[in-house]
Amino acid sequence: MVFRAPIRSMATAARRSLKIGMLPADGIGREVLPGAKAAILALGSSIPKMEFIDLLAGFEYFTKTGTALPDETVQILKSECDCALFGAVSSPSRKVTGYSSPIVALRKKMDLYANIRPVKSVSINPEGRPGVDLVVIRENTECLYVKQETQTVGEHGKEARATRLITERASRRIGELAFKMALERPRKHLTVIHKSNVLSITDGLFRETVRAVPTLPGVDGKYDDVTVAEQLVDSAVYRLFREPEIYDVMVAPNLYGDILSDAAAALVGSLGLVPSVNAGDSFVMGEPVHGSAPDIAGQNIANPLAAIRSAAMMLRHIGYGDGADRIERAVDSVLREGKVLTPDLGGKSKTSEVVDEVTKRI
Ligand code: NAI
Ligand code: MG
Repeated sequence: MVFRAPIRSMATAARRSLKIGMLPADGIGREVLPGAKAAILALGSSIPKMEFIDLLAGFEYFTKTGTALPDETVQILKSECDCALFGAVSSPSRKVTGYSSPIVALRKKMDLYANIRPVKSVSINPEGRPGVDLVVIRENTECLYVKQETQTVGEHGKEARATRLITERASRRIGELAFKMALERPRKHLTVIHKSNVLSITDGLFRETVRAVPTLPGVDGKYDDVTVAEQLVDSAVYRLFREPEIYDVMVAPNLYGDILSDAAAALVGSLGLVPSVNAGDSFVMGEPVHGSAPDIAGQNIANPLAAIRSAAMMLRHIGYGDGADRIERAVDSVLREGKVLTPDLGGKSKTSEVVDEVTKRI
């Protein structure tokens, strides 16, 4: 899977060392992140002075300390780290007083406004569909994830409300990124996902702002080669399952992007294959799309490939494209060969065996 650095290039030829913040958090996050670390370490001296800084966050940490994201973690990320890798967090479905998801908070605190999730078929994967090669670009800081919820008691009992925030600024910057990425890809096709037939004010603003990117001052015809389509989110899910090959770059507000990328993951066989980066103008954090998978946690059977691919995406984003290529080629060859696979892909191998197989080929 080849993924080019988006947003403003954070590449720097003069980088003399690389400090990577490691936030495994909960569940299988702790089992897959060591695999990502092993893959980066396998690059050896091509990355000078690598340093991994272990950082605390997560629901389990919250249960011990009352905080899910200590200030110190954010401070160290901001002041010492060049980039970071996040595992997964176990956010309970019920309301837990005082708890708030550390990954949602991190995206906001570090202004990682884009979540970029490439989903691509692997040719010899019996579970997957051929021809899927798309990227979901999810706005990462607003929509319903501003988490302004209230509950009152009305005439008919409890009434719960949530605020959905869509701003022109956030929609414009995610739109600019989406156009840039579409331009860099062979098919140069962008689909804007929304539901503005119902949510005409919020989704209407998102849609209009993204579509207006080619007319912004200074763009000067740069995106003339990008074809733009738009689709209501519900029919996008339908078409994603029926004819995924029509999609190239999909850009969506936060919640739709979250749902669409998990759905797209099903097309390529497993959530355990799909990587992402959370990117802003000055920081990037790799993160597998999957959650903490409590159903398989602690068994050494979680698929580490999404985390390893997330490490590759992170490296590419900060200018280590060659290293990223080496990791991605190793992952693709393990998948093509199909001998060392975790159970989610129909194999019998352990997490650690897959990691060994990948690192051997880097
Ligand atoms: P999930 O992504 O953890 O798991 C969904 C299904 O996919 C499960 O059957 C799981 O076993 C499987 N799966 C996921 N990753 C896998 C991997 N690497 N290898 C093999 N199988 C894998 O989603 P779920 O179960 O809805 O949520 C579990 C917890 O994770 C919840 O507390 C949720 O809040 C949290 N979560 C956290 C995310 C994050 O940290 N960014 C994202 C999504 C969910
Ligand atoms: Mg999700």
